Amino acid sequence: MIVKKLKFENFRNLSNSEIYPCEKVNVIYGDNAQGKTNLLEAIWLFCGGHSFRGAKENELINFEDNFFRLFMDFNSFERDQNAEITFSQNKKKIKLNSVEKNSSSYLTEVFSCVVFSPENMTLVKRGPSLRRKFLDGAITQQRIRYAAALSKYNQIINQRNALLKDIYKHKELKDTLPIWDDSLAVTGAIILKERLQYIKELKVYAQKFHDDISCNKEKLDIEYISNAGVTEEDNIEVITEKLRQAYEKSRKDDYHTGYTNIGPHRDDMDIRINGISAKTFGSQGQQRSAVLSLKLAQAEMLFIKNGEKPVILLDDVLSELDPKRQDFLLNKVDSYQVFVTCCEESNKEQLKSGKVFYINNGEVR
Ligand SMILES: Nc1ncnc2c1ncn2[C@@H]1O[C@H](COP(=O)(O)OP(=O)(O)O)[C@@H](O)[C@H]1O
Ligand SMILES: [Mg+2]
Repeated sequence: MIVKKLKFENFRNLSNSEIYPCEKVNVIYGDNAQGKTNLLEAIWLFCGGHSFRGAKENELINFEDNFFRLFMDFNSFERDQNAEITFSQNKKKIKLNSVEKNSSSYLTEVFSCVVFSPENMTLVKRGPSLRRKFLDGAITQQRIRYAAALSKYNQIINQRNALLKDIYKHKELKDTLPIWDDSLAVTGAIILKERLQYIKELKVYAQKFHDDISCNKEKLDIEYISNAGVTEEDNIEVITEKLRQAYEKSRKDDYHTGYTNIGPHRDDMDIRINGISAKTFGSQGQQRSAVLSLKLAQAEMLFIKNGEKPVILLDDVLSELDPKRQDFLLNKVDSYQVFVTCCEESNKEQLKSGKVFYINNGEVR
């Protein structure tokens, strides 16, 4: 998919204006705090979700105004399309090809991006929650119903945790716990099955990218770590039963801690290079290469699933990579439309062909 035109109205610090990106690499160049990430954030919103920075919609409205509106002309599925997002009085309104839609998921079906941000460059090195977030985000992009299962699961976890705290005072409430465990197991199994399937496919592409980045010197491996002992071979019934038993076994601990210690909300992903944990033993360069491989594999999977290449957003990541990896990222992904932010002259010059936008105090030229 290709973004052809973007128009901003009262969005963050960006001046009301329109830009016409090129089909390949678009460099957004400027000093700090000028609005580079704001511009990528605007593109990202057309994927139908929330800001990749975790900002609330209200925070996206220019401080001086009470609504924002974004327009985009783009090409996807061999068709010129347009979309509009308006946020006003705490309500988001979406139009696709000039027709008002009641759900953001219409956008998800026609437009997708993969974002590389400084936060996800630490995906390998940091705690498991960031890896779960990566998985959940990537799967949601491919399967809209996954988001529904996830939100239901989190809701049940919150209710079960509240109950665990009440049990402390009202022992008789213990008898109601098995009901929650059963519904957690059923919903948790859907999540686990999807995650295991996703990793199985992702791994193949990530390994290929990693072979290239490391000139075949490193072998990348990814494994999902389920704390309930669920494996790739298990079918949905087996997963449900394993989870149910795990929740039951964990009850004693859960009474003490006041929350649910077991389940997919506490799982992790083990990323290994040449058989050794990249998190514990990998160099910073190896960890970053592994992240690049994972994210590029995410983009490739979207392409294979949809037959459309997602737009790649590179926010502030070039400066964190050595020249070899910078070059790899820019050349390997040049079959995609790319938006890359940078504030160093040298980065800007390193890019081969493309269009450069200069941004100063929200003014894009
Ligand atoms: N809702 C808003 N209205 C006006 N300005 C905003 C809003 N949100 C953020 N900003 C401003 O945007 C600037 C940061 O933009 P950002 O895109 O993060 O910069 P960078 O170019 O470093 O990526 C800051 O100056 C901040 O004050
Ligand atoms: Mg920025």
